[in-house]
Amino acid sequence: MTKTRSIIRGVGAYLPEKILTNAELAKMVDTSDEWIQQRVGIKERHIAAEGQFTSDLAVAAAQQALDAAGMTPHDIDLIIVATTTPDYTFPAAATLVQMKLGMHHGMAFDLQAVCSGFVYAVATADSYLQNGLASRALVIGAETFSRLLDWTDRGTCVLFGDGAGAVIMERVEIADGAPDRGVLASALRSDGHHWDKLYVDGGPSSTKGVGHVRMQGPEVFRHAVGKITDVVYDTLDKAGYTVDDLDWFVPHQANRRIIDGAGAKLGLPPEKVVITVDRHANTSAASVPLALSVAVADGRIKEGDLVMLEAMGGGFTWGASLIRW
Ligand code: ACO
Repeated sequence: MTKTRSIIRGVGAYLPEKILTNAELAKMVDTSDEWIQQRVGIKERHIAAEGQFTSDLAVAAAQQALDAAGMTPHDIDLIIVATTTPDYTFPAAATLVQMKLGMHHGMAFDLQAVCSGFVYAVATADSYLQNGLASRALVIGAETFSRLLDWTDRGTCVLFGDGAGAVIMERVEIADGAPDRGVLASALRSDGHHWDKLYVDGGPSSTKGVGHVRMQGPEVFRHAVGKITDVVYDTLDKAGYTVDDLDWFVPHQANRRIIDGAGAKLGLPPEKVVITVDRHANTSAASVPLALSVAVADGRIKEGDLVMLEAMGGGFTWGASLIRW
């Protein structure tokens, strides 16, 4: 008997060149470097250039992931782009990525679960691979979140940034007795009753416009740690592991205090937690693959390690994925 698994073959990332520091933000709104660092742990964020779209960021990350996997776009038959900031209302940014990669084959679609988008996309790609609908998936989290910000609202504009991260997932058959690898378990959740705690006040069907991010910060904070830890425990349970078995915790990089709170509640040593929020800020669906790419590139995450991805975001949506690297 063999076991079908989705293995991560390569990781890639892209951050726009322009860096916006807290000191620069303090010239735009009534805030300070000290307030931002103390409340959310952010020092700087990257901002996409004029004319640089989400699909451009996504393609740059995708190319790096393909190179890391030793593959070309020819090898891919599924593209999922997790994003809240597609280039156009339609078509999906994923089809633009497909075009820019020179592909005419396979399928491509966007997945909208805001900050949880990448974790949702990993679980979705895993299902497609498991069911034989595809054999190699390019899974991207990409955002130009800066385009949704009200740059006069200090409560939100200091929190977010732009970027993209990508992974290549491949379906493999693991023989009996061979070391288990790949996505071991995922758990996804949502509760739309919380929609107005974190949302964008525009859209094609309501205002016919784009709108800006609106957030009840303390309410989001109040829900975050509990929901994150619940779904992490569910995922571990499904796979028959405990927190002590984890080598790495790669959380959504929303806010240092949420990450520290979740890590402490789970009883995780801080050195097992990957943190990039200080340099990237909250890049929504891009935050988990960006953090992942940093920890893979610097050699922390190695083959055989047990890695927990986790995210929570607007909706609310939340989820986790456990991967044997
Ligand atoms: N600079 C200076 N002061 C600020 C800023 C700022 N950038 N933003 C808000 N303030 C002020 C407020 O105006 C308020 O002032 P007041 O008392 O004079 O009215 C004061 O700080 C406290 O405001 P609160 O909103 O109560 O601040 P709080 O301590 O809750 O911190 C924060 C706000 C950091 C947003 C916090 O609620 C939080 O971390 N929430 C989670 C939000 C989050 O991470 N969202 C990301 C998306 S969700 C996700 O991805 C999980």
